[in-house]
Amino acid sequence: VAVAPATARLLADYRTGRSGDLLTATLLATRAPVVVAPAMHTEMWEQPAVQENLEVLTARGVIVVPPSHGRLAGGDVGMGRMAEPSDIVAAVEAALTAGGCVRDFEGRRVLVTAGGTREPIDAVRFIGNRSSGRQGGAVAEEAAARGAEVVLVTTCPERAPEGVRVIPVETAAEMAAAVDFEADTADAVVMAAAVADFRPADPAEGKLKKDAGPPEVRLAPTADILASLGSNGTPGRVLVGFAAETGDLEANARAKLEAKKLDVIVANDVSKSGAGFEHDTNEVLVLTAAGGRRHVPLTTKREVARIVLDDVSDLMASRTAGLAAASGGVDPSGGGGEAP
Ligand code: CTP
Repeated sequence: VAVAPATARLLADYRTGRSGDLLTATLLATRAPVVVAPAMHTEMWEQPAVQENLEVLTARGVIVVPPSHGRLAGGDVGMGRMAEPSDIVAAVEAALTAGGCVRDFEGRRVLVTAGGTREPIDAVRFIGNRSSGRQGGAVAEEAAARGAEVVLVTTCPERAPEGVRVIPVETAAEMAAAVDFEADTADAVVMAAAVADFRPADPAEGKLKKDAGPPEVRLAPTADILASLGSNGTPGRVLVGFAAETGDLEANARAKLEAKKLDVIVANDVSKSGAGFEHDTNEVLVLTAAGGRRHVPLTTKREVARIVLDDVSDLMASRTAGLAAASGGVDPSGGGGEAP
């Protein structure tokens, strides 16, 4: 149970075991871990009574996410501003993990890409796309919550979740260089980024001026990052791609799965409402090289991440076991992984 914001009165009621409303009754009735994120004015926060209530609650095992110094509800500034939502989510996840949640990525390294690349036309303009980095961010967050060491190569670093190493990039070439560098040591690579297929061949150094008339922008192909990872196939590494389609979803996605030598492809019809670019939700079709097919109806991007990582986890475990058998029983991953 998470209470955010937790007022001074709520903390006092919870400490003394009152159950005068639905919230305090819930707190009294639950056996789940409880996280509170206090928020109040500075003068209240500094009251010994409030601090003592928090000490007692902490001693009883309640997890307190302390407030910070900043702008308060009344417009003034001081100590007592509720912790950032991402810190509260991290505390909740830590509480769930301690309670025995899945840690099937413990000891694994996962490389995730997110966002849409930007290919410069001149000093101020670029060719981009509508990817917001949300789905890749959700994959990174889920993998970290399950114990992975996560590297996130992204064009949207401001959306990166807590607890992952972020490599900010802009162009397809920068993304390719970062992925090349990081992929060798990864147990799984999830390419959720929308990478430009073409870039302006000769971007202007300065700003193109209107008076010169409409410019002619000649395009050149970019390297296909995922296809080159597929053809370099590191044994044991699991490769996941995404397919953004506006028609013939399944056939196009399966063709990409095969052409890029992937283990899993997550296909979405970006023309459907509520799915794909710029939404918090997604509807996808997950196809695997082994012939698996799963339709995931409209749900959160975090839930999509969970389903995709379940497949990745199974594949990693079976490959580790296969490689261990081939090398005479020695676990080549160093034994970090845990079989499901
Ligand atoms: N991808 C990549 N490098 C590129 C283009 C795409 O690594 N230069 C990856 C994407 O991250 C995604 C997958 O390939 O995981 C499929 O991307 P998508 O844009 O759906 O397909 P394309 O291969 O670019 O083909 P098309 O645009 O013709 O549909």
